[in-house]
Amino acid sequence: MTPAMITAMSVAYDQLLDGTIQHLQELKEHGVRFVSLSPETLAGLNQPPVAARARSQSVSPAPPAPAPRPAARPPASPTPILPKPVEQKPPSPQALALPLPTESTAPAPAPALSPEARAAAFADLRRRALACVRCPNLAAARKNVVFGVGDINAQLMFIGEAPGADEDTQGEPFVGKAGQLLTKIIQTMGLTRDTVYIGNILKCRPDTPGQASGNRKPTPEEMQTCIPYLHEQIDLIRPRVIVALGATAVEGLLGKTIGITKLRGQWRTYRGIPLMPTYHPAYLLRNQSLSEKRRIWEDMLQVMEKLGLPISQKQRDYFLKAAG
Ligand code: URA
Repeated sequence: MTPAMITAMSVAYDQLLDGTIQHLQELKEHGVRFVSLSPETLAGLNQPPVAARARSQSVSPAPPAPAPRPAARPPASPTPILPKPVEQKPPSPQALALPLPTESTAPAPAPALSPEARAAAFADLRRRALACVRCPNLAAARKNVVFGVGDINAQLMFIGEAPGADEDTQGEPFVGKAGQLLTKIIQTMGLTRDTVYIGNILKCRPDTPGQASGNRKPTPEEMQTCIPYLHEQIDLIRPRVIVALGATAVEGLLGKTIGITKLRGQWRTYRGIPLMPTYHPAYLLRNQSLSEKRRIWEDMLQVMEKLGLPISQKQRDYFLKAAG
């Protein structure tokens, strides 16, 4: 291959790369954070550029090492919208098709916003969420969009599944029976609802057409549609710790569909933020055993330790008698 051909290919490659990056950034601006790729495409992306391959295959003169990509090239944010290089075998097509994010250790993007700018960005986000009609059935059935409540500068965020009937009526998360239990847990930690932030994977109550009462789990499509709002909330709040309440919250944030009994009590990471999966308080309403209460409490003790909150002996010993 002649040097002119290599240069032409290199220019074409750069144009293609620029176009791809621009397209991904546009997707990101519209709330898309993860893209599906076929194994073939992923394998292709992990190859060196064609021009670099051509250079390394040319025999004379000895090729220079491919120049490192300029620092300005990758998307500004570490959001995992581009696939990570695959070192061994490519992931299965099913894994690539998963609509929800996978656990990530990438740090959340630093908003570096002043308190005023953060409040303004939060207000704008709230305005957009309150006007959202992306799930027409939920928008038609809801009384309120349940955006979230608490301190937007909080160090601790609790994330639940979706509003129930009480939350839909009042427009505030976790105000029904399960919510009252969550409030007690927060208070037992020595905190208040005002000093933490409470939100949900879904901002609208999952509709139950034809039923006078009852709740249902959000569908994967509803979760995927709504989750960008929560991602933005987390990006703006930048809590030091996230508590995921129940399996749906873990699934929404980490893409894990493993049972909460297996996951609870073990630290995970949501884009660099320590995340503690624990039981949903509704589970404790159904299962009143002291040993289960102790388990969720042990998870909260871990959270308090991570945050450097003071822990009294009395707090350490709650529900201990029945543990085991
Ligand atoms: N359950 C949730 O997951 N969220 C709420 O806001 C209320 C109940």
